Amino acid sequence: MSAPRRAPGGFPVVGIIGGGQLARMCAGPAAELGITLSVLAEAPDASAALVIPSAPVGDHTDVDAVLAFAAECDVVTFDHEHVPAEVLSALAASGVPMHPTPEALVFAQDKLAMRERLTALGIPCPRWAEARTAADVTAFGDDVGWPVIAKTPRGGYDGKGVRVVASADDLADWLERAAAEDSPLLLEEKVPFTRELAVLLARSPSGQAAAWPVVETVQTDGICTEVIAPAADLDTDTAARATEAGLRIAGELGVTGVLAVELFELPGGEFVVNELAMRPHNSGHWSMDGAVTGQFEQHLRAVLDLPLGSPKPRHRWTVMGNILGGDHPELYPAYRHVMARDPEIKAHLYGKGVRPGRKIGHVNVSGDDLADLRERARHAADYIEGAVTE
Ligand SMILES: Nc1ncnc2c1ncn2[C@@H]1O[C@H](COP(=O)(O)OP(=O)(O)O)[C@@H](O)[C@H]1O
Ligand SMILES: [Mg+2]
Repeated sequence: MSAPRRAPGGFPVVGIIGGGQLARMCAGPAAELGITLSVLAEAPDASAALVIPSAPVGDHTDVDAVLAFAAECDVVTFDHEHVPAEVLSALAASGVPMHPTPEALVFAQDKLAMRERLTALGIPCPRWAEARTAADVTAFGDDVGWPVIAKTPRGGYDGKGVRVVASADDLADWLERAAAEDSPLLLEEKVPFTRELAVLLARSPSGQAAAWPVVETVQTDGICTEVIAPAADLDTDTAARATEAGLRIAGELGVTGVLAVELFELPGGEFVVNELAMRPHNSGHWSMDGAVTGQFEQHLRAVLDLPLGSPKPRHRWTVMGNILGGDHPELYPAYRHVMARDPEIKAHLYGKGVRPGRKIGHVNVSGDDLADLRERARHAADYIEGAVTE
């Protein structure tokens, strides 16, 4: 594995395991900060490998590949949470600083571990249970009311690994697999939320933390399609309590780097925690254009234990619209049209091939009129993905 080329002047190399769009979007801020990135990529044409010169191809489940990669870096961080525990411990034992640490990361990797820990901390969660058998599912549903939500504790994303279940029969296939793998499922009550919110913050190894304003995230079929920053008409007390909960989780779990806490808002200003992510997160893409310090820059500052930047918004509102893969593989002609139609739109494309429902980019737009911004963000995203042609 060839070593990344170091910049003169004592600047560090940050290694990112995984070459997806989150690693890719660190490239701009790293270039500005003078930091060298190196990415352990899934393939030579992985999203981040297309823009980061040091992108050796290697498997994040292969201990030798990960150790060889990390040996050339000053600190290691992650594009996703799929690095297995045994690889993380080998990495920790090798002495290369890693952020987040394996002790914290497990609560973003394993939704059952997360539920246990947050419940022990007294952080509000949906009612939940562990299930191994059909009888467990029936007992839980009869207790909290049907339908219930079932989740595979590990490996899910974009709603994959989440199922709405009307009876234990709906879960026969998952239960069979869970038994074969001796790994239980997570059951949750179906929360009657008024909307979904997210707290995003960064925490450094020396304990400094900075939180962006609480945002609203809109999910369609389990996948994030829109983010409104800050969440409109959010009660200031609810916003403060949600932010405090996020900071407390970060401190108690010893999270380093960016932490996203997904929340369900309940009627009456209460909330419960949905899940945690310990890396830059879709709910923070707005900050690239809408805040003094964007989440990718902040994540780099945090993992290097540099002083954090201000998370202050630059505008009254910023709206983020995700671009999902549709039927049209050619995006560039539409891109041109969107730029001409609305010069205030900031488009971010990930260099990924189009597959239906796949996150391939996003747009941000900021200003004072929220309804207008939402319309413009949606139109631009829809136009680039080919869902509208007018
Ligand atoms: N307990 C629940 N009650 C109601 N909706 C839920 C619940 N859990 C998840 N969802 C819905 O499914 C989406 C995806 O679930 P989540 O656990 O966040 O999985 P992922 O890891 O795929 O993001 C959530 O954003 C929410 O819209
Ligand atoms: Mg989620």
